[in-house]
Order: sequence, then structure tokens, then C-alpha cells
Amino acid sequence: MQERATAALAAGKTISFVPTMGFLHQGHASLLREGRVQGDLLVLSIFVNPAQFGVGEDFESYPRDLQRDSEIAAENGVDIIFAPTAKEMYPHGYQTYVNVETISLPLCGASRPGHFRGVTTVVAKLFNIVKPTIAFFGEKDFQQLAVIRRMVRDLNMDLKIVGMPTIREDDGLAKSSRNSYLSPEERSAAFCLSRSLAAVSDLYRSGEKDVERLRAGLLEILTSEPLARIDYAEFRDGDSLEELRQADDRTVVALAVRIGSTRLIDNTIIGRGVTWKERC
Ligand code: PAJ
Repeated sequence: MQERATAALAAGKTISFVPTMGFLHQGHASLLREGRVQGDLLVLSIFVNPAQFGVGEDFESYPRDLQRDSEIAAENGVDIIFAPTAKEMYPHGYQTYVNVETISLPLCGASRPGHFRGVTTVVAKLFNIVKPTIAFFGEKDFQQLAVIRRMVRDLNMDLKIVGMPTIREDDGLAKSSRNSYLSPEERSAAFCLSRSLAAVSDLYRSGEKDVERLRAGLLEILTSEPLARIDYAEFRDGDSLEELRQADDRTVVALAVRIGSTRLIDNTIIGRGVTWKERC
């Protein structure tokens, strides 16, 4: 991979990069399509990264289907699929980690200790291997995008990071490889995430700026869904991820909710709202 990247750069080509854990869906495909447009060589990585899963999490059961992923990659103009093994990425004796400090701590960092250290470590390694000119990440993983932007700035990594909007199902559920864990009943219950985000955004846009009152509106919808257990539901500054008392247009509403045993995340920038097919 490094040899091919070096050769492409030497030939004056730019490299677009989309890192993933595979089991591709239309969210990933939207990143690939943008990568195809913005770079000469389009590289997709597929690697279920053990370093970002905690003990008792779903590393073993995380869905994998390299055959289907290859077809989706081909349909979206991918030039190279880089799919290393865990042994290649973390050989015996491996001991170097990248840790972005403050903004890795709240939200998913609090409920999944060590998660972002695993993400930043693998993404830094992938950047050194793929040598991208530009890399694409989804806003669906809002904190991940913020942490990666911070890492790139702090470590002077020489590439551009592009954030891409969240792709949703027709009923608003954010597309996720983990949606495949949901039973039909849980799938209906999962609608409460996007529904609560849309409602709180409407409330904000009708003039409510007080975070405690906005939070009450959010929790009312989430707690009325019997299958949902809230991991966190927070209002934070969209750049620093600091907590707020008053919301403004840049405030991010971030959710992690367990539906049965499946943990789902979603978010919205409150001033922007949430839309999906059946809501338009
Ligand atoms: P994964 O969950 O496979 O996601 C790969 C990329 O697709 C991420 O940037 C994610 O934000 C984006 N994505 C996922 N669902 C999306 C949706 N519905 N709409 C738009 N984009 C979406 O995130 C990871 O893998 C890993 O942590 C990784 C960065 C690859 C490091 O291991």
C-alpha cells in the first residue's frame, strides 16, 4: 500500500481516503462518491480495529462481509481496498498509541474508555500507510470527527479532513453497520433517536434556547420508548464539545441510546435541524 501511494504521489496524483470497518452501507458510499470526485486515486480501508473496542463490546460479533463490500467499492469507483489483518496492524511487541486528550473524554469517551485512543491510533497508522491528500469522515460520528480534526492539527499531519452529512433511512434512523443487530421490534423503537433530535431542533428553532428545557423535551421522547435506555443525551459546543447552558446555532445535540443490547449514536447541529425522506 505504501509503495502504491508513494508512486501515485510521485506521478502527481492526489489520494482520497475513506477509512471504514466495513459492512458498507449508503453512509459509507456517500463518502466514497465524494472521495471519487475530489481525488485521483481512491483508497478504501476495511479494518475492524480491535484497539477501539472495549472488553465485553462487539469486536467478535461486528458484522463482516468482504465480498459484498468489494461489490459496493467497485460500484463507487474505489481503486484500492486496503484490508489488513490485526496481526499486520498490531504485530507482536506493538506499543505506540496516539491519544487526543480533552475532547476524547466526554460522551462516547466516557462510556467507552480507551475507544478514541484506539481510533486515533489506527487512523494515524492508516494515514501513514495510505498517505492521503484528503480523507473523508461522517458527521454521524461527530466526536470522532472532532477528535481526528484535533489530532491532524496538533500533530501537523499534512492532509485535509472533510466531514460529510449523516445519511439516514427513510424513517430517519441514521445508517449504521450496527443497525443489522436490531430485531424488527427494536428497529421500530430505534426511530426515537432521530425523532427526538428533530423535535428538540424544532423547539430550538421556535425560540427555546435554555438547555435544561431543551433537554426536558429530548428526554420526554426518549423515555417514552420502553425499549430505549439512554447512555447519554447532551448539549455541547459543536467545536470544543464543552457543556452549555444556552444553546446557539452551533450547539450539537449528541445521543447514545441502547435499544435492547445494541448501542446506537446520533446527533444534530441544533440550528440546522434534521430531515429525512418521510419528514419532508
Ligand atoms: P465505520 O463505523 O465503518 O465508519 C466509517 C466512516 O463512515 C466514518 O467516518 C463514519 O462516520 C462514516 N459513517 C458511518 N455511518 C454514516 C452515515 N449514516 N452517514 C454518513 N457517514 C457515515 O468510524 C469508523 O468506522 C472507525 O472508527 C474508523 C474511523 C474506520 C477507525 O477504525
